[in-house]
Amino acid sequence: MRIVVAHSANEIGRLCAESIVDYLLAQGGDAVLGLATGSSPLETYKSLISIAKKQNISFRNVKTINLDEYCGLGPEHPQSFRYYMDKNFFSQVDIPEENIEFLSGIALDEEKECERYDRVIERRGGIGFQLLGIGGNGHVAFNEPSEKFSCGTVKVQLTQETIQANSRFFYDVSEVPVSALTIGMETIFHARKIAMIATGEGKAEAVHAMLHGPITPQLPASRLQQHEDMTLYIDSVLAGYLQKKYGEI
Ligand code: GLP
Repeated sequence: MRIVVAHSANEIGRLCAESIVDYLLAQGGDAVLGLATGSSPLETYKSLISIAKKQNISFRNVKTINLDEYCGLGPEHPQSFRYYMDKNFFSQVDIPEENIEFLSGIALDEEKECERYDRVIERRGGIGFQLLGIGGNGHVAFNEPSEKFSCGTVKVQLTQETIQANSRFFYDVSEVPVSALTIGMETIFHARKIAMIATGEGKAEAVHAMLHGPITPQLPASRLQQHEDMTLYIDSVLAGYLQKKYGEI
């Protein structure tokens, strides 16, 4: 795993966006991007939009697959991941609606919805470039610590820690959904290229365990230790804290 230490979240966003653009160009504009939500990728989306405008990069032939969605939230709900993506990225580039794949948080048959998503990912030939964040407990997408790494898309119960962490996006913690649909750790692991973003002291324990701990579903991100083309982008605050606390990054 390559580790890049940047000064700020803003610089990480620029570096990640440049790496996505390089990937798109290498694929002749025809790529499958795995996209994430949360605070971590926000600067990347901003940079990507601005580079696309300046360099006339088109997303017409780009296909996207988002990682996850809260159960019970439809696309119009301001805290749904679909709403976040429309607002922060899709509405600002020329990607056709039919190229955007999303899990439905309001599917009546959740099991069928998970199966549908796995078929879509398979039909698209898997994920080319995957953008990721990491939860404070080492979760990736919504793969929470558990007994085994899930292969395909599944419904998960969110841990109290994740509910609490994500409550900052809601008016009240009681409004945070308690379950979600998420693509599996194995699907993420099979992305050809991965960029993960982690900033701030709060991610130190999870990042250290991901890099140096055992590979275990109790720390889902640890599965990525064996990935052959992954870059971890951290800011200098997190890097300094890791050095201080563990004597290494
Ligand atoms: C959520 C998302 C993850 C994200 C994580 C960290 O739970 N499902 O995809 O990586 O939170 O979010 P943040 O980047 O806001 O710290």
